[in-house]
Amino acid sequence: MITVALAKGRLANESAELFEKCGIDASVVFSDTRKLVLESADKKFSFFLVKPSDVPTYVEYGIADMGIVGKDTLLEHEKDLYEMLDLKFEPCKLCVAGYPEKKELLTNPHLRVATKYVHTARKLYAGRGEDVEIIPLNGSIELAPVTGLSDVIFDVVQTGSTLRANGLVVLEEVFDVSARLVVNKVSLKRKADVILPIIDRMKAIVG
Ligand code: PRP
Repeated sequence: MITVALAKGRLANESAELFEKCGIDASVVFSDTRKLVLESADKKFSFFLVKPSDVPTYVEYGIADMGIVGKDTLLEHEKDLYEMLDLKFEPCKLCVAGYPEKKELLTNPHLRVATKYVHTARKLYAGRGEDVEIIPLNGSIELAPVTGLSDVIFDVVQTGSTLRANGLVVLEEVFDVSARLVVNKVSLKRKADVILPIIDRMKAIVG
């Protein structure tokens, strides 16, 4: 049996569609259930539905042989696993955003940056030698500059509608992030006969 960790929500459905295109029965993922372990009818695959940030953990420990998760999550959690493929769905950008007039302040010392990507932001600014204040938040990040909690935010932008609705703009695009196929290092060797053909099929589908 191959175990697969999927990020709950929209990404899980798109991931299941990709497995189906590869000839793998992932229909169980579409079922309306509170169950967290979902086995395919032929018992060859077992899908775990977890929070996006937990997908790399399940894969690193080998509880899941493989997983699908956003590159933003992989950057933030830096787990010991193989990133095999850019699946090109859920394309987003990790951006610095804020009010347009903050553009000139981006390199100011002590710039206050609100984010849920604390590790990635620290690494980014440390790499640039910029001394900023990172303000960790868990959601609704756009509220921080609107209320004056921060000067700017470092967050994922997909359609841009949350920024627009709050009068904010992208000030700098930093990373392209999209869904990635990740594989446990031991599983790739032990279950190569099953996993490698799946990777090949996915590669052919996503181009
Ligand atoms: C994410 C992100 C932005 C929004 C971007 O938040 O933090 O707020 O989506 O998407 P958009 O560019 O299409 O508007 P999410 O919806 O995951 O919720 P959160 O605020 O609780 O983090």
